[in-house]
Amino acid sequence: MEIIIRETYEQMSRLAADVIRHQLLKKPSSVLGLATGSTPIGTYKELVRMHQEEGLDFSKVITFNLDEYLGLPPSHDQSYRYFMDQHLFNHINVDPKNIHVPYGHAEDIEEFCEWYEAEIKRTGGIDIQVLGIGGDGHIAFNEPGSSLGSRTRLKTLTKQTIDDNARFFAKEEEVPRFAITMGVGTILEAKKIIMLANGPKKAEIVAEAIEGPVTAQVSASVLQMHRDVVVILDAEAGSRLKRADYYKWVYQEKKRLIPQMIGKVT
Ligand code: F6R
Repeated sequence: MEIIIRETYEQMSRLAADVIRHQLLKKPSSVLGLATGSTPIGTYKELVRMHQEEGLDFSKVITFNLDEYLGLPPSHDQSYRYFMDQHLFNHINVDPKNIHVPYGHAEDIEEFCEWYEAEIKRTGGIDIQVLGIGGDGHIAFNEPGSSLGSRTRLKTLTKQTIDDNARFFAKEEEVPRFAITMGVGTILEAKKIIMLANGPKKAEIVAEAIEGPVTAQVSASVLQMHRDVVVILDAEAGSRLKRADYYKWVYQEKKRLIPQMIGKVT
């Protein structure tokens, strides 16, 4: 794991976008795994800027989103499809045919989940997966206790996740109770993973996930088993890490001696 702690949210977001830009320059037809939520908004903003000002090309990119609320159509302003359109897809030259967000209104959920998994495989697998982390340690909507081998499926959200996400809905009762989500096993098959976290509320769970034991009780902790994970944090989210000084030293020395290797696990 490479742990990078930047001072601000903007610096964190720029670095994450830069790692994605490198991937797209290396392989223009990359398969991107994407997250929603407030954390990656700055990263998407920076990718949009790179497209508009520097011509970063998304025309051959294929995208797969991690999850979607059950029952919300893509037109619903709290659906994850709507979020992605607003923050990224409407502003870059991605081909709409190459966009995949789970259908929250799929008629046969199990069949849809199998199709989604098969579609990821058919496109050659995810090259780089962007993740946030929930207050309960979830990645995508893999709530505590999710099998570390789980695949795309329906999950019931925890009370904590419903409370965390209530800020986006008029009333708590409106927050969907279920979501279709990639599994932990699905995520672990991505060739590279970037996990992002910012703000003081994430400090405790980030420390548990990165420096605590690997356990299905904290889904994000399983990232310790993946060979190519870059965790990019702002100072607040990184404030409870015991080895923060070491991670900062690694970053400084890389920046000084091998800047091209920042964001590449060494
Ligand atoms: C969203 C997702 C979730 C969020 C997590 C953090 O697609 O997969 O796991 O990344 O709930 O959400 P924010 O960024 O809003 O704190």
